[in-house]
This record gives sequence, C-alpha cells and structure tokens, in this order.
Amino acid sequence: MCKKPVEDILFNNQKITFIGPGVMAEAMISGLIREGLARPEALYASGPSQERVDQLSQKYGIHGLTDNVAAVHQADVVVLSVKPQQLDKVLAGLHASIQPSALVLSIVAGAPIEKIAEVLAHSSVVRSMPNTPAQIGEGITVWTAVPSVSAEQKEMARQILCALGDEIFVEEETYLDYATALSGTGPAYVFLFMEAMVDAGVHLGFPRRIAEQLVAKTVRGSVDYYWGREDPMHLARLRNQVTSPGGTTAYALYYLEKAGFRTAISRAIWAAYERSCELGKEGKSHVPD
Ligand SMILES: NC(=O)c1ccc[n+]([C@@H]2O[C@H](COP(=O)([O-])OP(=O)(O)OC[C@H]3O[C@@H](n4cnc5c(N)ncnc54)[C@H](OP(=O)(O)O)[C@@H]3O)[C@@H](O)[C@H]2O)c1
Repeated sequence: MCKKPVEDILFNNQKITFIGPGVMAEAMISGLIREGLARPEALYASGPSQERVDQLSQKYGIHGLTDNVAAVHQADVVVLSVKPQQLDKVLAGLHASIQPSALVLSIVAGAPIEKIAEVLAHSSVVRSMPNTPAQIGEGITVWTAVPSVSAEQKEMARQILCALGDEIFVEEETYLDYATALSGTGPAYVFLFMEAMVDAGVHLGFPRRIAEQLVAKTVRGSVDYYWGREDPMHLARLRNQVTSPGGTTAYALYYLEKAGFRTAISRAIWAAYERSCELGKEGKSHVPD
C-alpha cells in the first residue's frame, strides 16, 4: 500500500514520459505533482492531438508533444497509457527507441509483458492493472515486474502507481488476469448492483434521486464501516449484525441465496478471468478500461 517516500522529490531529475495523454495519464500526472513526487518540468506527455497535449501543458506545466519517439528520448520511465486497441501501433512505432536503462510501465489492460518487451525490444517492463476509481486517486492497482527490473525501478513504479490510489505488487503475471476479473472489472459489478438497488427503490415508490442517494450512501457507509476498523471484522459477521432472526434482512437474504446470488458472482468473475486470459493470448484487448 502507498507510503510517502523518504525523499521529498522522488523523481528529482528523472524524466517520465506518458505515451497516451488520456484520463489515466492525467490522473497520474496530477497525483505525482500534487504529492510532490515529480517536478512538472520532468514530465512529458505525447499523443496525436496537439490540443490535448497543449491542454495538459497549460494545466500542469508539463511538456506536451505529438511525436512519441521524440517524447521517449532519454526518458527514465516510459508510461504506456494508450487504449488497448492503440497499443500495437504505438509499440511498433517505439521499437528500439527507448534507452536500455529506462523502465517501461504499462497500465494497458490485458497486454502481456512478453509482448510489450518483444515488440519494443526492451527488457525492463512493469505491467499493472488499475481500476476506474484511479481517476480520482481512489483506485487499487495490482502490478508485477520482470526480474530485470531493478529494486530502484520497482520503487519508482510503485510511487507512480500510488498516484492512482493503493497498489499491490505480485510476483506472478497470472495474478494480473485475476485482478482484471476482480478489481479491474469490479467497479462494473458494484455499479450494476447499485443500479439494481436504485431500481428496486423506485419500484417501492421512492423518487429516483432519493433512491440513488440512499443506495450510494449505504454502499459508501458500509465500506467505511468495514474498512475504518483497526481490525476489520469478517464480512459474514458484519452481515449477521444486521440480520435479526425472522426479520426483514433474513427474508431478503433468503431470496438472494435462492436466486443463486453468490454463484452468479463467482461465475461472472471466473468468466471475466477466462476472457482476460483468452484476450491476452489472442493479442486482442477488449478487456475493461
Ligand atoms: N480509465 C480507467 O479507469 C482505466 C482502468 C484500468 C485500466 N485502464 C487502462 O489505461 C489505459 C488508458 O485508459 P484511459 O481511460 O486513460 O484512455 P484515454 O483517455 O482514451 O487515453 C488514451 C490516450 O491515448 C492517446 N492516443 C491514441 N493514439 C495514440 C498514439 N498513437 N500515440 C500516443 N497516444 C495515443 C489518445 O489520444 P486521442 O484521444 O486523441 O485519440 C488518448 O489521449 C487503457 O489501456 C486502459 O486499459 C484504464
């Protein structure tokens, strides 16, 4: 999990280039500057739209370019933050352009390390799987690195990913596929669940606005209640706390179990995992973003 580094400016003189100046790149750039981890002059962003890179330059004081090869020149860290469907073209365009001592950090969903390393002809690659709340610095990112990534580079990767929220390092790349199915895709399950609750509230007779407020605060409050404890209680115990014998919750839970609620979730997550593996092998990347 994220800890502030000992030094004030971790990436003092190191050049960090973002290839793909989109939503996630902006979240990382703003987080790095906000946390005082990097100076704006050391940050570069490259993409096809002059308007977009100018916008980032003006907002954060970073360098904006429309030439990926020029942007990675002498970069210490190259963050790949394009959409999965743009990756092949971007990697081919950067073949052998990144200096050998640099770290390549990919946040592209579903792109295997082997493919990135091979097409770039570059050995030090970190692959990560963030999720949507990363856009407000509340994400959770699972990441891994090949053995040639040094301890110092790993620390750099960790600090950059901290700009998106919490992070968890894993030794094996297969955990990235697990994470894709659980936390990467996770916000969609949560939103679907919330949407279903809101619709049920409207069915009962609440105005939609009030149903949304009740559901959103219930979800947030429940998470905070679980997470805010020094020693988080088992989820089943927390559920039991609101389940009186013969009461309303017991009746509601009976219907959820009868409808196969847990099995449906387990199967859905397993299906997402299998799809993530398939797409990685096929080289296609229609995984969540
Ligand atoms: N968004 C999330 O919550 C989330 C969660 C987990 C993982 N991710 C991963 O993060 C990555 C970025 O997602 P995002 O939401 O930030 O996407 P995004 O906002 O669409 O950003 C992608 C950026 O790449 C630029 N781009 C397109 N072609 C390029 C090229 N040839 N060279 C350089 N840049 C190019 C795009 O420019 P134009 O717009 O001008 O085409 C855009 O600025 C994705 O791979 C996704 O899988 C995202």
